[in-house]
Amino acid sequence: MEATARTRHARQLFAPLGQTYDRYARLLSFGQDPRWRSFLVSRVPPDALRVLDVASGTAAVAIELARAQSARTVVGVDQSPEMLEAGRDRVAQEGLSERIELRDGRAEALPFADGEVDALTFTYLLRYVDDVPATLRELARVVRPGGTVAMLEFGLPRAAWRPLWELYVRVGLPAAGAVVSPGWREVGSFLGPSIRDFWREWPEPRLFDAWREAGLADVTARRMSLGGGLVVWGRRA
Ligand SMILES: C[S@@+](CC[C@H](N)C(=O)[O-])C[C@H]1O[C@@H](n2cnc3c(N)ncnc32)[C@H](O)[C@@H]1O
Repeated sequence: MEATARTRHARQLFAPLGQTYDRYARLLSFGQDPRWRSFLVSRVPPDALRVLDVASGTAAVAIELARAQSARTVVGVDQSPEMLEAGRDRVAQEGLSERIELRDGRAEALPFADGEVDALTFTYLLRYVDDVPATLRELARVVRPGGTVAMLEFGLPRAAWRPLWELYVRVGLPAAGAVVSPGWREVGSFLGPSIRDFWREWPEPRLFDAWREAGLADVTARRMSLGGGLVVWGRRA
C-alpha cells in the first residue's frame, strides 16, 4: 500500500522520539497517560491469551498487557522503525522478549488472518489514518468473534476545563516541547490542532457509529481526567 502524506508525516513526527518518548509523553500529559493505559488494559479479559496491540510504539501497552496475564502473548505492530527499536529495548529490559513480539506494519493492512487474535488494543492511532472507517474494519477483521477491541485517545475536556486545555495546547505544550528538543517542539505544536480537528470530524456519536459499522458491538466509552483521555471498548460481533 502506497504511503499517503498523512502516513509520511506520522513517520517523520515519531522518528526522532523513540528513545525519549516514554519519559516526555508522561510529563506532557501531567502524568495521566499511564493511568489511561492501565484502564485500557483492564478492558481486555484475562482469557484473551493472544493479543494484538496496534500503533504499539515503544510497547508501553504491550508490556502492560503481558504483565496483566502471565499466560498471554502480545504482538505489537507499528509503522515507525525508530519507535519499535526503542520498544524492543524496553521489552528486553522488562525480560518479556519471549512473550512480546514487535513487528513493522500498518494498521490499514494488518499482517494477520481473519479472527486470528483474541483481543486488540490501539492507542493514539486514529488521528494518523486517512480512512477511519476502513481502518476500524481492518482492526475488527483480525479479532475472533466475541473478542475485545479497545482504544485510547486524547479527548477534549468540556465546559470550564476546555479553556484551560486550549491554553495548555496553544501555549504550554509547544513551549514545553521546545525546551526538550526540535522533535518534541513539533509534537507540542501539532498535538492540540490534531486532537481538535479529529473530534470536529469525528464527534463521539459518529465515531461510535463507525465502530458499530465495523462489526463491533456493545460499544462503551469512559472519559478520564476531566475528558483529557477517552477509552472506548467493544466486542467483535
Ligand atoms: C503517540 S504514539 C503511541 C504509542 C503507544 N501506543 C503508546 O501508547 O505509547 C502513536 C504511534 O502510532 C504509530 N502509527 C501512526 N500511524 C500508524 C499506522 N497507520 N499504522 C501503524 N502505526 C501507526 C506511530 O508510529 C506511533 O508509534
